[in-house]
Amino acid sequence: MDKEIENIKKEIKCFHIKTYNDLETFRIKFLGKKKGIVTILFKELKKITICKRKIYGKIINDLKKEVQNKIKIFNSKNDIQKNEKVLKLDPTIPGKSIEIGSIHPLSIIRNRIIDIFIKIGFTYVDGPEIEDDWHNFTALNIPIFHPSRDMQDTFFLCKNPDILLRTHTSSVQIRYMKKHSPPFRVLSIGKVYRNETISSRSNFMFHQAEGFYIDQKVSFSDLKQTIHYLITSFFGEVKIRFRPSYFPFTEPSAEVDIYCNGEWLEIMGCGMIDPQVLENVNIDSEIYSGFAFGLGIERLALIIYQIKDIRIYFDNDIRFLRQFKSEF
Ligand code: DAH
Repeated sequence: MDKEIENIKKEIKCFHIKTYNDLETFRIKFLGKKKGIVTILFKELKKITICKRKIYGKIINDLKKEVQNKIKIFNSKNDIQKNEKVLKLDPTIPGKSIEIGSIHPLSIIRNRIIDIFIKIGFTYVDGPEIEDDWHNFTALNIPIFHPSRDMQDTFFLCKNPDILLRTHTSSVQIRYMKKHSPPFRVLSIGKVYRNETISSRSNFMFHQAEGFYIDQKVSFSDLKQTIHYLITSFFGEVKIRFRPSYFPFTEPSAEVDIYCNGEWLEIMGCGMIDPQVLENVNIDSEIYSGFAFGLGIERLALIIYQIKDIRIYFDNDIRFLRQFKSEF
């Protein structure tokens, strides 16, 4: 027995523990519940006389303590190493910098238009991009046979009832006028969708700004003055031309051009709101009149920033986007 114990002691001492796996093998070998060498010795104690049991009990207990000590020593050494790894982290290394982005050119123009109109008492509102036929077409005097309703132009989400992606922001006029009583001055900016071939000048989606003003005795000169104010806020004193045009929801209607770098550039549509449109939303056209205008944000940005291709707005190329500063 004594020799056997001496051998076990040696074995405990010489067992090489390098990894946590070794440690587990070591623990199971000596203290495993069923076949651990020390565990079995404890079990065998029951078989010897009480007198001897006391002596061997102490000896086996010492063996157990040696095993436990060795486990403790390994654990404490490796915990120190773990802590050392944590300490190797150098807090003086400069942090990773997070670049501050810039405002998208279309957002810059949008914010600028909102600023310009808030100054003259306009209220900013949003409208839904998913519209029904009545708000997008019928209430705006756009009859069934009008080409803009064509399957080629409009993205229909469902037919009968007709639900579609709005083709212009003029639908916001109808939504707002139905809910509010005049007088009001309203501006709205948002995405519109048309089933057009993507090219340097057109896209299936673009942004429009829509403005309208309704009160008693609003006249065409109010419209001209407002457009003049908008254009000069952007371009300074430039030549402005009102060209007679046609929109189903305004009468008379005009397109507005500015003279820029030796050529006339069309920038927006406008007109006096057709009395029938007012009647469609239960506004008495004998008492009230109003004007409306609509312009494309991408187009305006093309002129201001002298950009040749509208697709670049949506390429998400950071080299393009970071050039714009909101300096207006
Ligand atoms: N809705 C027109 C379009 O998408 C733009 C427009 C023209 C809006 C004249 C207006 C307006 O409010 O008076 O082409």
